[in-house]
Amino acid sequence: KDKLSIAIDGPAAAGKSTVAKRVAENLSYIYIDTGAMYRAVTYKAILRQANLENENELSQILAETKIELIPEKGGQAIYLDGKNVTNEIRTPDVTNSVSIVARHPLVRNDLTKRQQSFAANGGVVMDGRDIGTHVLPHAEVKVFLLASVEERAKRRHAENLIKGYPSDLKKLQEEIEQRDKLDSEREIAPLKKAEDAIEIDTTALEIEQVVEKIMELVKERV
Ligand code: C5P
Repeated sequence: KDKLSIAIDGPAAAGKSTVAKRVAENLSYIYIDTGAMYRAVTYKAILRQANLENENELSQILAETKIELIPEKGGQAIYLDGKNVTNEIRTPDVTNSVSIVARHPLVRNDLTKRQQSFAANGGVVMDGRDIGTHVLPHAEVKVFLLASVEERAKRRHAENLIKGYPSDLKKLQEEIEQRDKLDSEREIAPLKKAEDAIEIDTTALEIEQVVEKIMELVKERV
């Protein structure tokens, strides 16, 4: 098979998107950040002052929402109804509400279908929480990235400081733990390692080492 589907799942801030982007670049595959899609809906719902507990309201908003992932150099831009919201979807407001929105079955159904259609022709690296278990259960390569919560908070903190954002390490760690808890405990498509996924603990690894390991898994499959 020449064009594989690669699923990369794991908890918040485990380095999934950085690694997924590099793997996609190496293979000239499409990279799909599914978290960005949940974030985009959440951002729109907050702007509309929607009730984030109201599944039907959110589902109606989604029905009239266009989400596009556009490759850019060094990454990917996300467009919501034709507007670039790449930065807007990363604010603490969105980050701390997204797991509430992502819990609703109707929201997940809608976005899962969109993700599956993006991946219909293979040649994709998709990152998220439920890619190996639900979105692409037949993906040829499945990876579950892990790192200690302390390490994940430290990495996110360092990123924030580089970008010049205010950042509180302790608070970050609490927010990451809270989001993982909500994502792991929800009823539909929770954060969970697929049975056939390869687990990689990145706590003591550099990004390049993680990318290398995944490239080896890919080579075994082609
Ligand atoms: O990957 P990222 O941290 O941007 O994801 C934001 C949130 O979107 C997650 O915490 C989770 O609630 C939700 N999500 C999801 N399923 C996915 C990807 C993200 O529920 N496949």
